[in-house]
Amino acid sequence: MQKREKSQRKSLPRWLRGLSARLLVLTMFFVMISEVLIYVPSIARFRLTFLENRIADAHLASLALKATPDNVLSKPLELELLSNAMVRGIVLKRREARIMVLMEDMPPQVDASYDLRGASALPLIADAFATLAEGDRTLRIVGGFPDQSEGSLEVIVDERQLYAAMIDYSTNIMKLSLVISLLTAGLVFLSLRLLMVLPMRRLTASMVAFRKAPENAQSMIADSSRGDEIGTAQRELRHMQDGLRASLTQQAHLAALGVAVSKINHDLRNILATAQLVSDGLGEVEDPTVRRVAPRLMQSIDRAIELCSQTLSFGRADEAAPNPTSFALRDLVEDVAAFAGLPSDGRIVWRNEVGGNLILEADREQIFRVFMNLARNAIQAMSQGGEIAVTANWGGAGVIIEFSDNGPGLPEKAREHLFEPFTGSARTGGTGLGLAIAKELVEAHGGELMLLRSDSHGTVFRIDLPGGPQ
Ligand SMILES: Nc1ncnc2c1ncn2[C@@H]1O[C@H](COP(=O)(O)OP(=O)(O)OP(=O)(O)O)[C@@H](O)[C@H]1O
Ligand SMILES: [Mg+2]
Repeated sequence: MQKREKSQRKSLPRWLRGLSARLLVLTMFFVMISEVLIYVPSIARFRLTFLENRIADAHLASLALKATPDNVLSKPLELELLSNAMVRGIVLKRREARIMVLMEDMPPQVDASYDLRGASALPLIADAFATLAEGDRTLRIVGGFPDQSEGSLEVIVDERQLYAAMIDYSTNIMKLSLVISLLTAGLVFLSLRLLMVLPMRRLTASMVAFRKAPENAQSMIADSSRGDEIGTAQRELRHMQDGLRASLTQQAHLAALGVAVSKINHDLRNILATAQLVSDGLGEVEDPTVRRVAPRLMQSIDRAIELCSQTLSFGRADEAAPNPTSFALRDLVEDVAAFAGLPSDGRIVWRNEVGGNLILEADREQIFRVFMNLARNAIQAMSQGGEIAVTANWGGAGVIIEFSDNGPGLPEKAREHLFEPFTGSARTGGTGLGLAIAKELVEAHGGELMLLRSDSHGTVFRIDLPGGPQ
């Protein structure tokens, strides 16, 4: 679809593709249309005036006749009068009686007659076009006396003269319209180019340059003082570029910082591991002071190592893609129980309710980490003891696993930023990474981790993993 549009755009000649060129053509077209609208009534007016002039000229000629004593003129003079008035015959009528006649030798055959007295606009327009279509008829034109006196004046007119004059007039109008439309379109073209096209080009050029090299300050559009829409667009683009550049720089700094932190973390973890080894040896020392502080020291070191490992695994942007294998979910849940650090006095009961024949196709190591995080959270929340249960069933588009405990529920602070790295923790010594990591790992499998419910009776997380029973 897009391809076709593109090729269509390409098929237009280059000069027509621009906004101003299209407007040039359109303006010429519109001016021509309005010229036609003006031409139609004005050609009718032209014809009317031409014919009215013939009547007036005939009246003048008839006055010459009147001046003679017996209303008779010599033939050559009569013909000259007729030719001057551009008519072939003149008839003056007073009260239905012809009182005066000037005529060529052979009275011509009349093809059509028109009465100019009280003629209305639309018939006049139609008559004008009839003349343009025919062009060589003999017309009888009836009009009143120019001095408003009673009676009528008739002239016989050769339509060819009228036709020639009308064609002449139309050609002039046509030439004039062309000049006007070219001039108007040219002016529109120029003003549009100056006011819109050039600023638009600068705008798009800046967008393209910015897309190619957003870090380059030169690619940003200059601030505009224009008060119109283009000015607003330029200013908004400038704001956007400013904002984008700032966040880009910030992001680059943060990424660099992240790399630095993970390097420090890595070394710190090794240093702490050594400290852990050394502090393990403190357990053998008999000194009562050492015996008192050693467990707290070991606990602190454990926590520090945990913090380092969690931060490291979260910072690893290139967390390996899941490497799926088939395994029994029930066994995996058993393993989690063994490693999650359940209190040895049995105050927390672990109920593995997953069917032994439920075989999952997933990355065992990653799913193990997901359960470890959920399990450790539940254990940490239920220091007084309680129960943890895991169930799993096929349903919908895959397996639905529910991980529930009957602890005190999520504290308000944890609920507000649940699954958000570093901010979700409501526990002293917690990094707030456990659930964020678990969610990422589940989503990498195409699944979903969500909080089903949490209240004073306990908390239930649900994991959906895609797949089908094997
Ligand atoms: N089952 C649960 N019952 C009650 N509170 C919970 C439960 N699971 C999580 N929480 C609360 O949610 C918070 C966020 O958990 P999360 O695992 O993301 O971070 P954390 O446990 O604080 O730190 P980390 O797991 O990175 O060491 C916890 O601090 C805890 O307050
Ligand atoms: Mg946790």
